[in-house]
Amino acid sequence: MSAALDKPRKLGTLLVTGGAGFIGSHFIRRVLDRTEFTGSVINFDALTYAGNPESLADVVEKHRSRYRFVKGDLVDREAVRRVFQELKPDAVVHFAAESHVDRSIHGPEAFVKTNILGTFNLLESAREAWKDRSDVLFHHVSTDEVFGSLGAEGFFTESTPYDPRSPYSASKAAADHLVRAAWHTFHLPYTLTNCSNNYGSHCFPEKMIPVMVENMLAGKPLPVYGEGKNVREWIHVEDHVDGIFTVMTRSKPGETWLLGSGEERCNLDLVHALCDLAGPRLGKTAADMRALITFVKDRPGHDHRYAIDASRVKRELGWSPRWNLEKGLEATFDWYRANRTWVERVKSGAYRDWMKQNYGERGPS
Ligand code: NAD
Ligand code: DAU
Repeated sequence: MSAALDKPRKLGTLLVTGGAGFIGSHFIRRVLDRTEFTGSVINFDALTYAGNPESLADVVEKHRSRYRFVKGDLVDREAVRRVFQELKPDAVVHFAAESHVDRSIHGPEAFVKTNILGTFNLLESAREAWKDRSDVLFHHVSTDEVFGSLGAEGFFTESTPYDPRSPYSASKAAADHLVRAAWHTFHLPYTLTNCSNNYGSHCFPEKMIPVMVENMLAGKPLPVYGEGKNVREWIHVEDHVDGIFTVMTRSKPGETWLLGSGEERCNLDLVHALCDLAGPRLGKTAADMRALITFVKDRPGHDHRYAIDASRVKRELGWSPRWNLEKGLEATFDWYRANRTWVERVKSGAYRDWMKQNYGERGPS
């Protein structure tokens, strides 16, 4: 039996958590631009090192009457409760999280607080405000990392058992279980997506692609962990957020969907591709850029491979990714090159202090 709704769900007042972060900011921009979305957005965000409200400056300008920002921490139960009581959202899309695996290795506690307790507070507040309404929706944004690590063969599917292996993925897995428990026990309607690695503009420069782009622009070493053989599946952030909107509007409640692009690359191949496009743009050769590659100490517990079988969401809900990886990487490189103010401002915050403490002045190279 199909898990698609007969008629698309209408979304009214939408509470977006973590909307000042990388993926959340793209979601808000694209949802407000959609003609089929006539509701409004409340962006609830604590503005940690990864949150930058400047990412949404254009959105505020264009959609002033339909957008509202609330600074708040998910760990603060009263603050979350107040949003539900005062602003009365009908749907939640939950992006807010501590999202970076390396940080979860250096300091896991913030991941337990935000990702587990924060999700719990959000679920409890939704449950309290919505009572037994069935016309509401809690969409939870999760990751493919909850499924663990693959060998050379095979793909994650909606029925792959959970096997999280870093503090980050363990905290995301716990959150996923809490969301499903709220449905089974209290009938809180949810949908959930597990997605692969995102890339695109406005990504905080600690994740692999913006680290490489930034170091290329500065002529600094390109730090590849281990031998660069780990494999990731790269999806453009706009494809991810469009997939989330598709699931929120077309899926029956109580369903999980895997979103991915099929664009698998080992890290070294991906860095080579970036070098090859960056060289000519910077008046250098691809070989000049490749010479910057430096193999550095591996990440502890580094998952070998993630890969998604996204056939179910394509078949049942009609979503497919539109970006091709080569074009997407070019657009991403050009965005970082053109938006130095954004980059310098996010880098000048708590991120710089953290990097200094953990890696010294030169960064992880
Ligand atoms: P990000 O780190 O760029 O942004 C996280 C946002 O959450 C920031 O704006 C931050 O200020 C906010 N936040 C953090 N703690 C908070 C708290 N306690 N209360 C309120 N706000 C808080 O993250 P991202 O890369 O945009 O990821 C968004 C979501 O997507 C996460 O749930 C992540 O697990 C998931 N995801 C990410 C990827 C990826 O490749 N980046 C892939 C799949 C799934
Ligand atoms: O798979 C989805 C996940 O992808 C999300 O849930 C996470 O929020 C997101 O951060 C991302 O996790 P990864 O650990 O896969 O992403 P990261 O960009 O940190 O690393 C990608 C790969 O590149 C990984 O194999 C480690 C490697 N790496 C990373 C950095 C930062 C390097 O070789 N050098 C680096 O400097």
